[in-house]
Amino acid sequence: LHTVVYAQQTADISTLSEKTLSTILEKDRTYYTQGKVADYIPELGKMDAKAIAFSVVGKDGKIFNAGDVHQKFTMQSISKIIALMIAVSEKGEANVFDKMGYFGSDKPFNYFSNLETTGKPLNPMMNAGAILTTSLISGDGEKPFLKILDMVRFITKNKTIDYSKTVYESEKSTGHRNRGMFYLMKNNGLISGNEDQLDNYFRQCSIELTAEDLAKIGYFFANHCVRFDGDATYKNAEMAKLVQSQMLVAGMYEFSGEYARTVGLPSKSGVGGGITVSVPGRMGIGVFSPSLDQHGNSLAGYHMILDLVKQYNLSLF
Ligand code: DON
Repeated sequence: LHTVVYAQQTADISTLSEKTLSTILEKDRTYYTQGKVADYIPELGKMDAKAIAFSVVGKDGKIFNAGDVHQKFTMQSISKIIALMIAVSEKGEANVFDKMGYFGSDKPFNYFSNLETTGKPLNPMMNAGAILTTSLISGDGEKPFLKILDMVRFITKNKTIDYSKTVYESEKSTGHRNRGMFYLMKNNGLISGNEDQLDNYFRQCSIELTAEDLAKIGYFFANHCVRFDGDATYKNAEMAKLVQSQMLVAGMYEFSGEYARTVGLPSKSGVGGGITVSVPGRMGIGVFSPSLDQHGNSLAGYHMILDLVKQYNLSLF
């Protein structure tokens, strides 16, 4: 807990500027040297470890950017919050959570041995529950994936967003552990479809976007599913509560508890190096730096979030 500073003076949020973000970014830039770019999916290992970006969408949807603002990366596990929203809006929360838990966890994102005992995934944020969640979205073939992609495009108001076919192929050809979970859940009667449903999970993980896009996603869930420009097509306070509560208890995997203590905000990380953060009712934060800690969370990304949170006293607690 060396990162906690007690009795700190905090600044007024109206002073937030791109300068604030770039000052924090420069301070935390070198954290990438202490971590490692994910290479268990070969295509991910090709990311430039030095790339770094920091975005905030604040009051009235105002956007602040610093660093490599045009750098795209794959959203990976951050796509799980979008899939959760779609599955719950189609099937209802009770039907989705009849098949999995609301649990936090002390286990890494690819843990699944409890599928042999309780038979159900712990939550929709770890891989098992996320693969199951995507399988619950209706439609044949790649339709469920296209719904996820369309929702990401809507929330970010960025129609150019697409998925990386090379990352997708790389995930598909090396994702044997995910394939194992898929068939174990099919065996348990939780999944009814064919392997197209697993492909949709691999595709959603391969959606490419920027830190600004992540900040817009964070803003959306922080504001009752209202878009940064005020579009209220999907406005739903309960959905925002559900998604943010899962982000808080499981969004950073087994680091979620310590993260709740130090940052204290609903957040979701991905092994592509992105983290999206919701400051309920106030703002969204998006960070990117591909070098990860042992839990699969962006190291410099975590420190940038932590510094911003301390500076403006943004923790919920
Ligand atoms: O399932 C996987 O292995 C990846 N495509 C996504 C995992 C992920 O992002 C975990 N996050 N930190």
